[in-house]
Amino acid sequence: MEDKELVARALEAAQRAWAPYSRFRVGAAVLLEDGGVVCGNNQENRAYPLGSCAERVAVNYARATFPELRVVAIAIASPDSEVPVAPCGGCRELLLEAVRAQGAQDIRVLMADRTGDSVREAMVSELLPFAFELE
Ligand code: THU
Repeated sequence: MEDKELVARALEAAQRAWAPYSRFRVGAAVLLEDGGVVCGNNQENRAYPLGSCAERVAVNYARATFPELRVVAIAIASPDSEVPVAPCGGCRELLLEAVRAQGAQDIRVLMADRTGDSVREAMVSELLPFAFELE
């Protein structure tokens, strides 16, 4: 799948976000090794800390449904952002856990703005250097 298409899927998913409090809609599209795509979006709650980021919804759904399939890439985008959306610190931890769960095979992160034309790319390992380890 082309990067552009994965970003388009993230932007499309953002349209279904539930973000009445921040009014900042985010979509995430996870590309699996078999070419399948799992999407998510941010889901906020009146009790603010209960809200979930788009990446968390998409990655947790992918890993809960297709635990045997490696995550190859994730696109993150917001129709409400003029600049590429970078994952929050918590989502970087979540993404790094997915990397660990798939035998340290890194995941490409595509970060896009509202148009989907401005895209930054980094690997999860680059987004969370010097990470907390138990060993
Ligand atoms: N948000 C995401 O869904 N992903 C990010 O990478 C950054 C922030 C959400 C959380 C909250 O619902 C809204 O964007 C504003 O912070």
